[in-house]
Parts: sequence; structure tokens; C-alpha cells
Amino acid sequence: MSRQYYIAGNWKMHKTKESAAALAKALVAGLQDGKHKYLVAPSFTLLETVAGIVKGSAIRLGAQNMAPEEQGAHTGEVSVLQLQELGVQTVILGHSERRHIYHEDDSLINKKVRLALKQGLEVILCVGELLEEREAGKAEKVCEEQVRAGLAEVSTADLNNVVIAYEPVWAIGTGKTATPEDADAIHASIRSVIGRLYSPQEAAAIIIQYGGSVKPDNVAALMAKENVDGALVGGASLKPESFIPIAKF
Ligand code: 13P
Repeated sequence: MSRQYYIAGNWKMHKTKESAAALAKALVAGLQDGKHKYLVAPSFTLLETVAGIVKGSAIRLGAQNMAPEEQGAHTGEVSVLQLQELGVQTVILGHSERRHIYHEDDSLINKKVRLALKQGLEVILCVGELLEEREAGKAEKVCEEQVRAGLAEVSTADLNNVVIAYEPVWAIGTGKTATPEDADAIHASIRSVIGRLYSPQEAAAIIIQYGGSVKPDNVAALMAKENVDGALVGGASLKPESFIPIAKF
């Protein structure tokens, strides 16, 4: 497999400056090997602090969201231009917490995806089904729809800057992980959607991360699967003792 493993930490709404700096420093020290591709995504207010620490290291800097417009009257939003100024290289879009708590829909997410790509940022586009959708046998269909809508009007050239993260909503923060087989099956189906939308080459090249209760003791089995190319880690990304072993699996 020529795809590079990509391990990302989504810190969600955790940490303040001091604890974020301590975590970032420990990760920079612990992940000098550059064995895989690494990223941390702190809250907006921590980006500048963390940027100063990860700069020049093996760890990329990500944001957890951004506005769908470049600038203007959008109270409470953060612009792609403001993120870039801080050294942000990647933005996580369409996270299930954005979809389900803050009611972001596919068309809003697609607008953000296109703007981020236009500005040259890498996008981690999150998709994933609810428990009731899985139980109704609709997991693949839901993910396909989210991938298609999220990538609407995204060119083949821009797709090279897109990573997909499959995060089954029922596995996020619950301690329940998809089995490696279940994850691999959805990843394979997402890969075939990319093949149909773009080309077999694009399908083979796209990185698909798994997210949802990834821990040091389950990461290797997940990554061993053909179609699983990395992890988007929440809870276990908040401590060096758990994130470093995951990142170096
Ligand atoms: P947990 O690893 O805490 O389940 O969170 C996964 C996630 O939502 C990462 O974006």
C-alpha cells in the first residue's frame, strides 16, 4: 500500500493555554520519528500557542471548523484567512458534533470544504452514521450521501488535498469501536464511491481515517485493515501517554 498512515488528534473543546502547550511540547518530543503523518487540532484560541510549538516539527496544525465565508458580517465565526495567518494547514469539517449538535447540513459543509480547498488548506471531511442508521442497515448509504454531498463540485486536483474520516457516531466517546472488519467494509465502500465520482487512481490514493474510541490497544488491529489509513482520535489524543503510542503504532 503506498498510502501514508495519517494519525490526527482532535482535541475538541479541551485544554487552556498552559495544558495545551505542555501537550504539544510532549508530542513534538515524542513524535520526532516522522514514522507516519501527524496532526493536532486544538480549539481556535489555542492555535497560536500550539503553532509556535509544532512549527518545524513532524506535526501539522489543524483547526476543528471554519466559517463558510472568507470575511464579513458573521458574528462568532472564524475565517479561513484568519486560520491561515496562524499557520493552520488543515481543517476538520463535517464532524458529527458539528452535524448533530450544531445542525450543520451537507450543503453548508460542502461550502466550507470548497472554500478551504480554494485557499489551499487540507480538509479532513468527516462522515458517519447514527446508531439507528446502522441498525437499519443504512450505514453505507448514509456515508455515501455525506461523501457525495461534501465533495460536490470538488475537482480532481483539489481532491488530492482531501482526507476522509469515517467516524460512526455511536463509536465517538462511547468506548465502543467499530470492529476492524466493520470499519474496513465502510472504508472500502467510501473508496469505491471516490472511484465512481473521480477515478480508480483517486480511489486508491485517498486517505481514509477511522475515528471513534481509538485507543493504544485497538489501533494496530484497525490499521492492519487494507482500507484503513489512519485515525482521527478524540479522547485518547489529550494525553501524550495515549496519543504517542497510537501515533507510533
Ligand atoms: P473519541 O476518540 O473520543 O471517540 O472521539 C473521536 C472523534 O470524534 C475524533 O474526531
